[in-house]
Amino acid sequence: MRPTISESAPKKPRDWREPTGDGPQLLVESEVVRAAVRKARQAGKSVGLVPTMGALHEGHLSLLETAKTECDLSIVSIFVNPTQFSPQEDFRNYPRDLTRDMELLGRLGCDIVFAPTNDAMYAPNHATSVDVGPIGQMLEGEFRPTHFRGVATIVLKLFQLVSADRAYFGRKDYQQTIVVRQMVADLDVPIDVRVCPTVREADGLAMSSRNVYLSADDRRRAVVLSKSLLLAEQLANSGERDVATIRRLMQQEIDNVGGINVQYIAFVADATLTPVARIDGPTTVALAAIVGNTRLIDNMLIGVT
Ligand code: PAJ
Repeated sequence: MRPTISESAPKKPRDWREPTGDGPQLLVESEVVRAAVRKARQAGKSVGLVPTMGALHEGHLSLLETAKTECDLSIVSIFVNPTQFSPQEDFRNYPRDLTRDMELLGRLGCDIVFAPTNDAMYAPNHATSVDVGPIGQMLEGEFRPTHFRGVATIVLKLFQLVSADRAYFGRKDYQQTIVVRQMVADLDVPIDVRVCPTVREADGLAMSSRNVYLSADDRRRAVVLSKSLLLAEQLANSGERDVATIRRLMQQEIDNVGGINVQYIAFVADATLTPVARIDGPTTVALAAIVGNTRLIDNMLIGVT
């Protein structure tokens, strides 16, 4: 029988087992994860949550590592959230490998993996969603108009189910961190949102579960995205202030490689995501591009003196 959240009668947690040191506990039922968190908190333990969609790589694992240094109990959630994908996106084909994920998390000493089913997270009559306003409609939002509504909704649901002290997100998804912080502030969610640095491959490509979609050729091409961000940084460091000039040189560098369709290169100075025309202080350069058939995003903080 599939677990559902509509079964409200208290029942014996089916998938609960005491930690044995053999790897994380895999919990699928909402009430079981709630009980585990409650128990930990009652024992005075701090709880850290790392929300993910699985297909884990070192970027995800770095979040867990930080969570482990800061919290007594670490929980990684794995849920490929349908509401953040638009109909033409890759929800059905999104990489999934729970066995491998469990193994990786086990090696790192993760305490609990929460991997709910679709039906448990979205009841058939589910109707409420979280709209974070204009910051969800800019940059990524222009190309994925419903994406951040889906993200904010599932992240709030996860925060409700796993009432952690801290939640860990990657700087790789820069706009997502802004959206989550806005949602947490606006809706008074009692959780500390931590943002961890982007983990990259040796050649600079930002790690992403979607990198597996890249052909060998596309993989070689994709490096230019992080290179273009480094170019922006170098230009800013050498005194270039004009965003239009930096953007043009980045675009040129990317075009030289060929086969990459840049969707945006944006320069924003703060959490309002308002575009800036000049680099007059810390500025995030964020970009999205389609390499082959794969949409990639990356960003870098520049203008820090
Ligand atoms: P997912 O893409 O699986 O990413 C989970 C977390 O890992 C996010 O906070 C993301 O920013 C972080 N992450 C991904 N690649 C990273 C890298 N190279 N370096 C550092 N951190 C990295 O983001 C999502 O899932 C979903 O939108 C989610 C928040 C789970 C809601 O469904």
